[in-house]
Amino acid sequence: MARTARVADIPSFGAIDRMAGNLSRQVAQAVRDAVRKGDIGPGDALPSTRLLAASLRVSRGTVLEAYEQLIAEGFLEAKRGVGTRVAQALALERAPSETRARRRRSAVADLPENAAAFAALAREFTPLAQVPFAISVPVGLTAPADVWRRLGNRLRAKGPGAPAGYADPLGARSLREAIAGYVRKSRSVRCEPEQVIVTSGTQQGLFLASQVLLGLRDQAWVENPAYRGVTAVLEHTGHRDGMVRVPVDAEGIDVEAGIRLAPYARAAFVTPSHQYPLGVPMSMARRSALLTWARAQRAWVVEDDYDSELRYEGYPFPSLQGLDPDRVIYLGTFSKILFPSLRLGYLIAPDDLVDAFCGARVLMDRHPPNADQHVLAAFMAEGHLERHIRKVRNVYSEQRTHLIATLGALLPKDLAWVEPGDQGMHLVLWLASGIDDRAIVERAAKAGVSVRAVSPMFSPGSERPGLVLGFGGFDSAQMLAAAQRLAGVISDERKARHKQRKQSRKSRD
Ligand SMILES: Cc1ncc(COP(=O)(O)O)c(C=O)c1O
Repeated sequence: MARTARVADIPSFGAIDRMAGNLSRQVAQAVRDAVRKGDIGPGDALPSTRLLAASLRVSRGTVLEAYEQLIAEGFLEAKRGVGTRVAQALALERAPSETRARRRRSAVADLPENAAAFAALAREFTPLAQVPFAISVPVGLTAPADVWRRLGNRLRAKGPGAPAGYADPLGARSLREAIAGYVRKSRSVRCEPEQVIVTSGTQQGLFLASQVLLGLRDQAWVENPAYRGVTAVLEHTGHRDGMVRVPVDAEGIDVEAGIRLAPYARAAFVTPSHQYPLGVPMSMARRSALLTWARAQRAWVVEDDYDSELRYEGYPFPSLQGLDPDRVIYLGTFSKILFPSLRLGYLIAPDDLVDAFCGARVLMDRHPPNADQHVLAAFMAEGHLERHIRKVRNVYSEQRTHLIATLGALLPKDLAWVEPGDQGMHLVLWLASGIDDRAIVERAAKAGVSVRAVSPMFSPGSERPGLVLGFGGFDSAQMLAAAQRLAGVISDERKARHKQRKQSRKSRD
């Protein structure tokens, strides 16, 4: 079937003033303005002369005259059977995207403080190119594939996933039931479907938790280091000063240190199954200490359980929520185990907080998009999720072993070494002190390798350089090639440091 070109709606056409003289000239100018403002672009089809004349209530001849003028100017092109379009050649004259990005950056200087801070955040959270070692890229064996597509086609066409009116802000009942059943069984979470709020991922859950749980002057414990998604939420929702960074050691968050630093904090944001980014699970002693503190202070624990399904040695740790469902807000996501673009996760709240979370959620986006919720509910109810998890766990386990061995063999040991962890889909590669991990990230990106810097995950003054490497989605050959390029980038850093030291010695002598 022939593809139909986009027929442009041109809002600026509403501005034609019948008292202001020559109408066809006005129509022509409106088309030029619309192209200049970006309302329509090169290749877009214009409405037919008949349609546009009817909608502007002018004669067809008026529109015809305007189009002919613009064709003569090279602004429009007309081809038999395809209609009239904005000339493709104009694409070359438009500002290249790099210039536009530069203009956007310089405009930041004039923005209000909040807007400038959010603009900086947008740059920080730019998604990585989907090449090794980006995290959670569903390709090949780790993509849910045919079943997902089949369920999607069926449920979107008719039934619960078809277009409908507003739905339950807590999420589709069938999905909330499937999630409650799943987390009860696999994570020992104690909950009913009424406590499950479907979110558009853990990021939204973290944002909602900051809105619902924290007053303006409240303090909150946050692990040091921590996921930037949580520290950024607190920084940008008015809790920068109330954020108390609590050190993490081999047993997870140091609860005694937290009590010393902020005994009356209102909440603690933690990743107990698999500390992010270090990968350690929180010990049983720390779990009890944390919950004992939370009970005594009537504080909340926000448990980010982002990739607990993927433990390779032994069984996954049960959730903190299962130990005290009244004090823990549990956050889960399908980004890791299925794919991030799905944008579906869940927040499980104690009964007395469900309405509060529901209200905060309504203000953000009313409810999650309907169709994929039903596809996911069916995927879970028919047992595909559990099968998928078993499959990807095997794939990731092999890839992890392979990557650790490859990095060990390729990397200059005095500059970079692996902190493997025992679960998840990423590992940390520590870099020797003095190496700028952000610079390595940029140079690696130029070499076609995606990594994230660890130092921004620490509080200012306590940074350690390192890189987060994901090992999902890519085959061994791709990971080997990427590891070789990364080793090259890191070795170049050694040469640069060597040169620098030589120069500074020279200038001292
Ligand atoms: C520790 C941690 N929490 C939360 C998230 C965000 O997950 P989501 O995609 O569900 O927003 C991530 C994603 O990388 C993560 O690493």
